[in-house]
Amino acid sequence: MKATISSTSHYAPEKTLTNQDLEKIIDTTDEWIKTRTGIEKRHIIGKNEATSDMATNIALDLLKKSKLDAKQIELIIVCTVTPDHFAPSTAALVQNNIGASKAWGYDLSAACTGFLYGLETGAKFIESGKYNNAMIIGLDSMSTIMDYQDRNVCVLFGDGGGGAILEKSNRYGIIDSLLRMDGSGGKFLIVPGGGSRMPTTSKTIENREHFLKQDGKTIFKFAVKGMADVSEEILRKNNLSGDDIDLFIPHQANKRIIDAAAKRCGISQDKVVININEYGNTTAGTIPIAINESVISGRLCRGDILLLAAFGAGFTWGSMIIRWGN
Ligand code: ACO
Repeated sequence: MKATISSTSHYAPEKTLTNQDLEKIIDTTDEWIKTRTGIEKRHIIGKNEATSDMATNIALDLLKKSKLDAKQIELIIVCTVTPDHFAPSTAALVQNNIGASKAWGYDLSAACTGFLYGLETGAKFIESGKYNNAMIIGLDSMSTIMDYQDRNVCVLFGDGGGGAILEKSNRYGIIDSLLRMDGSGGKFLIVPGGGSRMPTTSKTIENREHFLKQDGKTIFKFAVKGMADVSEEILRKNNLSGDDIDLFIPHQANKRIIDAAAKRCGISQDKVVININEYGNTTAGTIPIAINESVISGRLCRGDILLLAAFGAGFTWGSMIIRWGN
């Protein structure tokens, strides 16, 4: 028995921030951003919107597309590094908002690899036989931790995400996964302030420590190698080659990272989903957005072999092979 994805959804806020908008607030150009990253715009949450509002939207749409009603949902995992609060969890807010009165759940923090960690975790609960379903939502409100004075970082990220309901299946579902973590890379992509290491003070705010900092070049190198290595390894382990993959959905951090990883795995361009131009990097949101868009457009069909790969802060990274269908 496998765990399979039975419904998908995504959500992106209405408001957008284009490269042209950024040209007006920092020293950058549309040309630089497009050629170095592939990004043209990002979606940004509204003034009264938070991560749980987007997650609730996604959860309600998942229920609409599913045969399940809210009271039948057993587990809710929200993968995010931008929760509404330290406590309560975003999962608890979603549970209440949708009326999933029998569900329990929690938030999962693995940055850009969050949705893969979430799918793996949810699948194991189902494979254990104890649970019939799990709602996995991956999303982030990256604009809330962006320093819009730091051109090295703020051009890269946007807000949004998506989700999936996992259920039991005998024929379809997650075939294999490889997940990795190396905390020695933690310092290269970090929000230094606001946690127990550096609680918020007027000084930390003045020093802009509550914003995301990164060493872009180092991350670039590790991301290409991490995503390509783990994807090659999972293909080898399952006696598959790039030609056997019907669709490759990589985390959307930089088009050049995606191109390099796909090339290393021998996957042709026409099988690679790229939507970074529209959303930027939504961290835990990129993969579920791309999955739902692929379902809607008909690029992802029953029986297809889907390869997912991600790399993010931690460092965390991983890949997953799914036989699509339910
Ligand atoms: N506009 C204009 N110039 C810029 C900008 C900008 N927005 N940002 C940086 N520059 C400048 C730099 O200051 C540098 O100038 P200098 O040479 O005078 O110092 C110059 O552009 C070149 O900078 P590089 O770092 O060499 O540019 P590079 O080609 O490496 O691209 C980038 C930078 C886009 C950040 C790239 O390294 C990258 O994508 N790294 C991965 C970062 C990432 O994805 N982080 C997300 C989280 S992790 C993940 O999701 C995988």
